[in-house]
Amino acid sequence: MSSERGNWGSNVGFVLAAAGSAIGLGNLWKFPYLAGKNGGGAFVVVYLGLIVILGFSLMLGEMVIGRRGKSDAFGAYNNIKKGWGFIGMLGILCCFIVYSYYVVIAGWIVKYIGMFIRGGLTEDPVLTFGNFIASGTSPILYSFIVVVVTAAIVLKGVSGGIEKASKIMMPILFVFMIVIVIRSVTLPNAIEGIKYFLKPDFSLITPAVIIAALGQVFFSLSLGMGAMITYGSYLPKDSNLIKSALYIPILDTVIALLAGLAILPAVFSFGLEPTAGPGLIFITLPRVFAAMPFGNVFGIMFFLLVLFAALTSTISLLEVVVSFVVDQLKLDRKKATILVSIIIAAIAIPNSHSFGPMADFKVFFGLNFFDFLGYLTDNILLPVGGLMLCLFVGYVWDKEDLKNELTNDGDIAFPLFSAWMIGIKYLGIQLLSLILLQAVGITGKKMSYSLVIIFMIQILFHVLENKRKVSAV
Ligand code: PHE
Repeated sequence: MSSERGNWGSNVGFVLAAAGSAIGLGNLWKFPYLAGKNGGGAFVVVYLGLIVILGFSLMLGEMVIGRRGKSDAFGAYNNIKKGWGFIGMLGILCCFIVYSYYVVIAGWIVKYIGMFIRGGLTEDPVLTFGNFIASGTSPILYSFIVVVVTAAIVLKGVSGGIEKASKIMMPILFVFMIVIVIRSVTLPNAIEGIKYFLKPDFSLITPAVIIAALGQVFFSLSLGMGAMITYGSYLPKDSNLIKSALYIPILDTVIALLAGLAILPAVFSFGLEPTAGPGLIFITLPRVFAAMPFGNVFGIMFFLLVLFAALTSTISLLEVVVSFVVDQLKLDRKKATILVSIIIAAIAIPNSHSFGPMADFKVFFGLNFFDFLGYLTDNILLPVGGLMLCLFVGYVWDKEDLKNELTNDGDIAFPLFSAWMIGIKYLGIQLLSLILLQAVGITGKKMSYSLVIIFMIQILFHVLENKRKVSAV
């Protein structure tokens, strides 16, 4: 069965594809603007801390579920423990929704590549951007380009499509990134931007900053929605999961930091504001390119690298859903890819229209379609998926079985097993509960009490578990 499902051709191929999934608009578009908005260095420090204490652990958690379950996200959970597939289902749903709005932003990137090839900005960037995204049909067509290219790659399968594409796009992305960073940090006054980005002002660390950083860790590492489970399921049994789970967050974080260094020093150098939010790369950055010698060349390079990053992510978003359709609904890969892509293209329309004709059409909670889906995935589905993942690895999956899978039946040493467990069980569950509590409006004292209660329940479980172990002996 496994050969039909597909396999990675090499470990390097897997790492590049998984890093490709992680590295995306989250790193290049969201991370710099979130840092710009949330106090620069303060946000970066919290983000790095969370990657270390949570990112690695959860990455390993998802990969080990995938390799053991040897199926799509739903099937993998079910294969390890019957009845738990719903966690994977939640992730598949989340990928599906994220994909439907991700393609809209990726489409804007395609448009910008075209714009720089044709000579760059012709009018004020605020107008250019605002008019374009509100213009109805044109942004939709650009997002369709992304849907079609993504489908064409996923159609070709795991090693022939996804792995091959990642092996081409990822190295180009790295090289372009380095060129842009060098250009940016050597601009006059760039040092101001570097300071803003890397020098933390600890007084700016607030609960809101921590919550924003935590959400970003999940999104950026493609965690909590089954992507790493799906990619992990194509790994051979003798691969070293522990090493891969280290490489991928490191690569992802390096690119996020380089993205900040590519953008913020340039923004400061031209006396522009870092707090522009989502418009930072679409409005502020084109201004920078317009003012710089050979700006168009740098513009093409920058948007091309963002497109490659976005495509290696859309591939994984689509693959999560396609692998479910192939494994569970038994459709062949070609049919599954085309079917899912058509539905995604249809949902991309209201997503794109949310910036134009449907901007004022409120779906729920006073949010328009795009904002509502973003809220649903970032504040509900992702943290719930992450929490369930922690509960599953920490409490549901038999410890011995888990340990054997992680260490390839004892072939690889993993002395940090207990520390890893603590990370997942306690830090993971506490931090994810925190996001969820605040998403449902439980804040302040009530939040603290709730977290203490959760912790006490965990301690109780711990005591009971030990008792059971002792009586078993
Ligand atoms: N990690 C991707 C990014 O940073 C987004 C993504 C999330 C992709 C989940 C796949 C699964 O852009």
